[in-house]
Amino acid sequence: MTRRTIIAGNWKMNTRADGAAELAKAVADAAGQTPAVEVAVCPPSVYLSRVGEVLAGSNVGLGAQNLYAAEDGAYTGEVNAAMLSDVGCRYVILGHSERRALLGETDQQVSEKLAAALAGNLVPIVCVGETLEDREANRTEAVVETQIRGSLAGLDETRAAGVVVAYEPVWAIGTGKTATPEQAEEVHAFIRKLLAELFTAEIADQIRIQYGGSVKPGNANELLGQPNIDGALVGGASLKADDFQAIIKAG
Ligand code: G3P
Repeated sequence: MTRRTIIAGNWKMNTRADGAAELAKAVADAAGQTPAVEVAVCPPSVYLSRVGEVLAGSNVGLGAQNLYAAEDGAYTGEVNAAMLSDVGCRYVILGHSERRALLGETDQQVSEKLAAALAGNLVPIVCVGETLEDREANRTEAVVETQIRGSLAGLDETRAAGVVVAYEPVWAIGTGKTATPEQAEEVHAFIRKLLAELFTAEIADQIRIQYGGSVKPGNANELLGQPNIDGALVGGASLKADDFQAIIKAG
């Protein structure tokens, strides 16, 4: 089964309006040369409209970094799937480890966000990953399994193939300590096997699993060459157009 590589840039809480537009333009110009790779950028929500205008007509998709799982209403400060679609989003990152750690986001909340994303016809990128303490205690598979089962709870089998899973070992995020290709592939293969148990082998074979955690131009080729690594969720390197383009090219 060949799965289309998907490379997404998670800009996190970075950029300002003009810089976001310039970065998006540079990514769009460069990504036009690699149509085989699916590319998305996920700016801060305040810049979604501005970046969406820049990306219009390009082959780079617009993504959000979160959503609130509710219809319109009295939810001060929140943004829902319909609003993200309204400004041109095609993707949404859910359950990022920073939100799990800083805001106490739970698997249950991620599963509700996942349902809302799919109801809003957004492609969800569901993040899972263990901490250094988990890994050193040999709890990596147990932690990732709990997160997958909890975050995908209630996911309808007919929609599962359209979900993207991002394995992001917390100890590799923003640290420069990238997982080795072997370490990453081992967990990706475990996730694929778990998805086959939760759904079917055929569906699991269609689900794309990104790796995230200090992906750089120098390690992207080897990581993306692994059989169960179908793309990358890129933080710091996505803020530099040349680096992000080099990672896309490696896809
Ligand atoms: O969501 C992607 C992010 O967590 C990875 O960050 O800076 O290690 O590429 P970074």
